[in-house]
Amino acid sequence: KRRIGVMTSGGDAPGMNGAVRAVVRMAIYRGCEAYAVYEGYEGLVQGGDLIKEMKWDDVRGYLSRGGTLIGTARCMAFMERWGRLKAAKNMIKRGIDALIICGGDGSLTGADRFRAEWPSLIRELVDTKELTPEEIEPFKHLNIVGLVGSIDNDMSGTDATIGCYSSLERICSAVDDVFDTASSHQRGFVIEVMGRHCGWLALMAAIATGADYVFIPERPPSTGWEDEMCGIISKHRSRGKRRSIVIIAEGAHDVELNKITAYQVKELLNKKLKLDTRVTILGHIQRGGQACFYDRWLSTLQGVEAVNAVLDATPETPTPVITIRENKIERSDLMETVALTKSVTAAIQAKDFDKAMQLRDVEFKE
Ligand code: F6P
Repeated sequence: KRRIGVMTSGGDAPGMNGAVRAVVRMAIYRGCEAYAVYEGYEGLVQGGDLIKEMKWDDVRGYLSRGGTLIGTARCMAFMERWGRLKAAKNMIKRGIDALIICGGDGSLTGADRFRAEWPSLIRELVDTKELTPEEIEPFKHLNIVGLVGSIDNDMSGTDATIGCYSSLERICSAVDDVFDTASSHQRGFVIEVMGRHCGWLALMAAIATGADYVFIPERPPSTGWEDEMCGIISKHRSRGKRRSIVIIAEGAHDVELNKITAYQVKELLNKKLKLDTRVTILGHIQRGGQACFYDRWLSTLQGVEAVNAVLDATPETPTPVITIRENKIERSDLMETVALTKSVTAAIQAKDFDKAMQLRDVEFKE
């Protein structure tokens, strides 16, 4: 029987458990054995109890749970060749030759590198007598399939990453709550949301909550934004708004790439508009909690597709990543997708914000 490993890596995201459940059950359904690798790459390097066979019932109740029940970790050892050698040995000893990884672009890039290195890793394991030629014989190729799990929705080539809609839901609900207290006191609030270098969460939340102003990294405000923002907020106030809400992405900056902070914006509103203003940094509350319907659905369909992709793969198939485009679950080339994602960050660094917006996709079009 084929043995397929499943792992979650990088920051947890709602829906990762749904993906693990779908992979385990689809693997069993397709006549394979499923193994969960606990604590991300750490589990692969350490092996032992951190690699555990999963039966159908072991993932019962996973769909509605937040975080990742099989754990995740930032693993320094896997960055080093000795760590990857240990990981390869652990996999071969357990008979696992395919890995489905749910994580962000960094975690998935690491996986692709592991696959590229695999032949030299197993050769070294034989040369150093860690494994015999007979032991490595059935494991000449490593199969990797990526699932994009991240609240940031920062991966190009896919309309949604597993977790982003659950996070957005929580942000909107938190902003609604802030609205109540802000209106009561006629205050201003600057609310910082996550997203790393991506403004998707901030922009979507601003649209969905009717915020007064939003800062995102891909479209920094032009020089003189201070006056523009204050002008807009004053106008809204003169129309009878009792509260002012500014949403700021944690990666926000100005056109010169100088960071814009929530506290800086608060000071401005306090001083220029004499607006009693508070800062709310939503933090990890955006990441925990139950997966919404969409993420349960997406992770299930993508987990199923990931197992099918493993079973279809040949040694020549480039590492696939499972994406969703225009509501269709698809397989894309992982490294092409990662390269596209990196080009957005590069465009921002080069201050080519039009290109950054264009590369980010349809939702950001003005
Ligand atoms: O990538 C997900 C994310 O939550 C980002 O939005 C945020 O910048 C980062 O992870 C926070 O990471 P940590 O939990 O390690 O502080």
